[in-house]
Amino acid sequence: MKSVSRASAPAKIILFGEHFVVYDKPAIVMAINLRAYATARPERSGKIVVESKSMNISGSFTPDGAYQPILGGLDGKERLLPIYMAVRKILSLAGENMGVRLEVDSQIPVAAGLGSSAAVSVASAAAVSSLLELNVDEDDIFRAALEAERMVHENPSGVDPATSTYGGLLIYRRGEGIRRLNAKVDLPIIIGDTRVKRVTGEMVLRVSEVRRRYPEVVSRIMDSGEAIVKTGAEVLQSGDLKAVGDLMNINHALLCALGVSNEDLDRLVYAARKAGALGAKLTGAGGGGCVIALPPPGGADRIMEAIERAGGKAFITCMSRDGVKIEKQ
Ligand code: PMV
Repeated sequence: MKSVSRASAPAKIILFGEHFVVYDKPAIVMAINLRAYATARPERSGKIVVESKSMNISGSFTPDGAYQPILGGLDGKERLLPIYMAVRKILSLAGENMGVRLEVDSQIPVAAGLGSSAAVSVASAAAVSSLLELNVDEDDIFRAALEAERMVHENPSGVDPATSTYGGLLIYRRGEGIRRLNAKVDLPIIIGDTRVKRVTGEMVLRVSEVRRRYPEVVSRIMDSGEAIVKTGAEVLQSGDLKAVGDLMNINHALLCALGVSNEDLDRLVYAARKAGALGAKLTGAGGGGCVIALPPPGGADRIMEAIERAGGKAFITCMSRDGVKIEKQ
């Protein structure tokens, strides 16, 4: 066993297909150049101690899962539970019951639809595997982080941990896993954060409610989502940025139809489009969080300014080919 090990994993954006992916439809996702880091060390007390620098909370879990706060009170439990679950899963793969101290630190905005919790779980699972010098592969890390996602919301599609684990540009489908996509073009993506926090599980529940009430209508919306992903994969591969943008706009309209957009998101979407974006949409669960906009060549600054003027926080990202990786100390 090592004395310390550090790993990292990227945030993600969903280009096409959020929410539909919960219902076995495909989604196109991209890992981006913002990362979460986890450092693991053995912990003599036998507990799993988790310290999150970015959330300013820490606490420990006893071997039977009882939470003892250190910083941030009992409310911290909900935030740290996914990390604990990912670590437990790796320890049980190793047949180990040892204590671990984890320090997590992340560049990814929390509760914004960029997959911060999955990235932290993936990095934590990888750091612990490396600490124990386990012979686990990416699929094991993905499964551990998927288990952790079940603590975040009841019915996760797995799209967040998959993107954080494998990196790059991917088509993801529940049950089938990932397929890599090679875009013919660079995809600089502008992110506009509404700064409105939301709970993914509540948004997933909202869609399930609309689907329960209007199954005929929603099944057609979901079929359209699938067609967007199919055509989206083709136009990404051929490098047709105009079509990528058009499909982003159509995808946003479908998400509006399902009731997961709101005024904050729409304001940023329209500001971006007005400033020349080829396409703009909410990304992730909606209800707040982030929009993404595709700039035309040379057009990023105008769009970022427009998003800021509309009250959002704008930054530009690009694809990260790296999924989860072990960092040098
Ligand atoms: O983690 P978020 O908020 O980006 O949402 C994940 C995407 C959803 O499709 C809404 C949920 C899921 O599990 O796929």
